[in-house]
Amino acid sequence: MAVVEVRNLSVVYYTPRGVAKALDNVSLSIEEQGEILGLVGESGSGKSTLGYAISGLLPGNAEIVSGEILVNGVDMLRAGEDSKPRVSVIFQDALTSLNPVLTIGEQIAEIYLYVHGLSKSEAYDEAGRVLEEVGLPRSFLNRYPHELSGGQRQRAVIAMTLALRPALIIADEPTTALDVTVQAAILKLLYRVVKENRLTMLYITHDLSLVAHICDNVAVMYAGEIVEYSSVKSLFRDPKHPYTRALLKAIPRVDTDVEELEPIEGSPPSLLEPPEGCRFHPRCPLAMEKCRILRPRLVSLVDGRSVRCLLYEEE
Ligand SMILES: Nc1ncnc2c1ncn2[C@@H]1O[C@H](COP(=O)(O)OP(=O)(O)OP(=O)(O)O)[C@@H](O)[C@H]1O
Ligand code: SF4
Ligand SMILES: [Mg+2]
Repeated sequence: MAVVEVRNLSVVYYTPRGVAKALDNVSLSIEEQGEILGLVGESGSGKSTLGYAISGLLPGNAEIVSGEILVNGVDMLRAGEDSKPRVSVIFQDALTSLNPVLTIGEQIAEIYLYVHGLSKSEAYDEAGRVLEEVGLPRSFLNRYPHELSGGQRQRAVIAMTLALRPALIIADEPTTALDVTVQAAILKLLYRVVKENRLTMLYITHDLSLVAHICDNVAVMYAGEIVEYSSVKSLFRDPKHPYTRALLKAIPRVDTDVEELEPIEGSPPSLLEPPEGCRFHPRCPLAMEKCRILRPRLVSLVDGRSVRCLLYEEE
């Protein structure tokens, strides 16, 4: 059984300017426990919306129009709260997840007390252990969130996540707000704790270069649709979708001159009135006449890959 299975999910936002189709028929799965799936795409492509839909955190003006979300086989849109597998979200800003009036120790111990039913002293003991596992000293049990640096707070959030032992972690740009060196350390930590504990993670980022470091597989989103799905290795070796190729050319590498970088021309379309045909056609260097009219399907290729582009559809 897959850990996560999203089937034909469509989500809209009701806004004063109209209805924004944030997700259009999105299907996605994470097959194996311990897998890290990257979800990449430009700002506004629908990554967080997908994360919120899976974790049940969509705002009030959003509606799931159709589709299914299964975590460990449980229907997350219909099951009662008690029978749903736990899903943890790690946000860009750790303060979103931390309670400012409780110490770090109280917040972690609460999870062991109320979720796992340990005694108070056992709970504090475990809280100290899990803090050390994420590289913070036990003495931090007595600190309040405002007494920690940004990187330390994100470590504390990772400790809480470890304590909870969720079926799925959704990390939504967890390092974006941090300094570059701290980013690398947090990324490494996340990778280690997920792999060592056989947790499963959906890693959301606009930065394809981060995906290369920690993900097993990757789904590329554009304007509310998945346009390519692949193992990370195959994606970097041989990107199929013109949008993925453009994203790769825009990544700075140590050995490329700034002049060689090619930012993607144009900007993503409005989701209030997405373009007809292929949504990427106004920006696609390979666009054909038919791309203005026909909506590409997600076509399966070899090695479990798939791509949404008319270049890969049979005539
Ligand atoms: N609360 C909201 N109300 C109305 N529209 C929203 C809301 N949240 C997101 N949207 C719209 O839905 C679309 C998808 O947004 P989403 O936040 O999922 O994108 P994203 O890929 O996570 O972007 P980013 O990289 O900037 O975080 C965007 O067009 C956005 O304007
Ligand atoms: S369908 Fe056409 S416009 Fe869309 S990505 Fe493929 S070639 Fe480009
Ligand atoms: Mg987002």
